[in-house]
Amino acid sequence: MIIEVMYNYSEMSIKTAEFIIEMVNKNPNALLCLAGGDTPIETYRLLVKASKEERVDFSQCKFVSLDEWVGLDENDEGSCKYFLYKEIFKPLNINKENICFFNAKCGDLQKECKRVDEFIFKNGPIDIILLGIGVNGHLGFNEPGIDFENYCHVLKLDKNTQTVGQKYFNKEMKLEYGISLGIKHILEAKTAILIANGEKKANIIKNLVEKDVTNEIPATALKLHANSFLFLDSDAAKLTHIK
Ligand code: GLP
Repeated sequence: MIIEVMYNYSEMSIKTAEFIIEMVNKNPNALLCLAGGDTPIETYRLLVKASKEERVDFSQCKFVSLDEWVGLDENDEGSCKYFLYKEIFKPLNINKENICFFNAKCGDLQKECKRVDEFIFKNGPIDIILLGIGVNGHLGFNEPGIDFENYCHVLKLDKNTQTVGQKYFNKEMKLEYGISLGIKHILEAKTAILIANGEKKANIIKNLVEKDVTNEIPATALKLHANSFLFLDSDAAKLTHIK
């Protein structure tokens, strides 16, 4: 895992966006998986800006979802799908046929896992996966204790995730289960980028950097990845000794 610490959130976002732009310019048919959450917002704005300036073209790329809250879909403000359509897919004018997103409202979630797995097996492996980290070390909704051999799966969310997740919604939500790509998909991606900013992530970043690979901190799986990157701002890196 290659670690780089940038001065602040803005610098971290520029680094991440430029890294993605360079890869997409080399591989315009790339399959991308982009995380929801607060961390990548500025990266997405920069990608949209670069696209408008014709520095990059995402029109031939395909996109697959990382995770979703079970019971929610694009009509629910705060869902992952709502967020990604608003922040990136709509502004980039991505053709719906090029997007495979979990339908976390469907009656058969196992079938839904299979559908998304098959999309990745057919169009993949994922070329670029952009991840955020939960304060408990989760990647997507791969919570502590997860089996690294999982592909897409449905899982009960940690209490911590249920509580922290309220920040995305403007009313109290029942966030008990998630549907997520598995660690195995992440490890099979050609390039994995994890980004983190702010003091609230400093403790988990310290653990991620200092501890050996353990499913108690799912993000440590990235240490098994041959081409993984951790981009931080100085607040997220403040408890960590990185040379
Ligand atoms: C959320 C999502 C992840 C996200 C992570 C960090 O719960 N399941 O996909 O990357 O936790 O979120 P944030 O960037 O808002 O801190």
